[in-house]
Amino acid sequence: MNIGIDRIAFYTSHYYVDLKMLAEARSVDVDKFYKGIGQEKMGIPPPDEDVVTLGASAAWPLMRDGLLNDVELVLFATESGIDQSKAAGVYVHGLLEMQPRCRVVELKQACYSGTAALQMAIGFIARNPGKKALVIASDVARYELGSPGEATQGCGAVAMLIAENPQLVVIEPESGCYTQDVMDFWRPNYRSEALVDGKYSTMVYIHALLESWAQYADLTGRTLSDFDRFCYHIPFTKMAEKAHQKLCRKLKVELDPEQMQHLLEDSLRYSRITGNCYAGSMYVGLASLLDTTTADLSGKRIGFYSYGSGCVGEFFSGVVQPEYRNFLYADEHQNMLDNRTELTYQQYEDIFNYAVPTDGGEYVFPQYRTGPFRFSGISQHKREYESLME
Ligand code: CAA
Repeated sequence: MNIGIDRIAFYTSHYYVDLKMLAEARSVDVDKFYKGIGQEKMGIPPPDEDVVTLGASAAWPLMRDGLLNDVELVLFATESGIDQSKAAGVYVHGLLEMQPRCRVVELKQACYSGTAALQMAIGFIARNPGKKALVIASDVARYELGSPGEATQGCGAVAMLIAENPQLVVIEPESGCYTQDVMDFWRPNYRSEALVDGKYSTMVYIHALLESWAQYADLTGRTLSDFDRFCYHIPFTKMAEKAHQKLCRKLKVELDPEQMQHLLEDSLRYSRITGNCYAGSMYVGLASLLDTTTADLSGKRIGFYSYGSGCVGEFFSGVVQPEYRNFLYADEHQNMLDNRTELTYQQYEDIFNYAVPTDGGEYVFPQYRTGPFRFSGISQHKREYESLME
């Protein structure tokens, strides 16, 4: 049975910071950001966006197009959860007015949870042929002001419809997985910014890649030449490039810059201007690849490397389907990215320092530019969301 990604839609906030402005504010050469880490802009969520509104907005085009009517499983992957008990996906299920005969749950393992959700959704469909699942991976990446991680912030969500005989990418059954108990990046419950051992995290990311690949290669007998493109987890675009270089070096495969560009560049375009979307990041890369590649990817194999700090890594693969170009949201994605508002440094700092109130009071939040849904306030300890769709 062929199971995989039938649709993919992506959403990021309407506000961004250009890293040139951040470089000036931090007295750093802008090329450290533009070239050294390979990032140009980072998406910043206003106070009335959170992972629920990001996720619901990502899934909205699927709902509008009538694709969610028979979904019976919603898996919401995030490491920016908003409640210790209720799954963020239940709010999304409500905002999208999905049918009630549905299981909804939230998953966490840092940036890996989007892939855990994808694999579980595939398992669900294998067990329930003909049914559909919705995977949402939604996150806000926050590091302390002035910290090395600051320039790698970002936000966004991806919504993927998982189905039998998918229109976009069939996910192949073999995977290489690697888990190790390490502290490279984490966020205790009492903090709103992540803690990270930055250089160490890049080393663990690569170690988990080499281990996952070795297992995948053992299982399949495939080599790097069996792949036409790669999608890596993208904390910053340079990380994906470095990881692929390390993998090639380990396998004694020579790559010139042009080949490297061919294999990775199209998957990095969106992330370079949205920043890290944690659980959704690799799938933002997939949307970027499918939307922006001028070549026909039909029948081509993509290699995926998903990484979540702490850590879990997985290498797997998928094959692009013949009619995929007829089922993309490329124009909507481009339109959203072209119509964002740049923040001044002061606006960025004010939004960064704004914290969702935790004193149990009654709050109504000012309206910023958002997608179809907004986080409008808090009443009686309950988050309130508003649909802006008529
Ligand atoms: N022109 C061009 N390049 C420049 C430059 C300039 N003027 N100045 C510096 N650079 C280069 C440096 O040489 C360096 O390149 P190399 O890595 O090739 O040596 C690059 O820019 C970055 O410079 P630094 O190494 O000095 O940067 P840093 O130490 O200040 O920060 C970081 C780098 C530690 C990765 C930091 O961005 C960070 O902590 N990020 C968050 C953690 C992270 O993303 N980890 C990734 C793996 S973990 C993961 O993937 C999960 C997740 O999503 C978080």
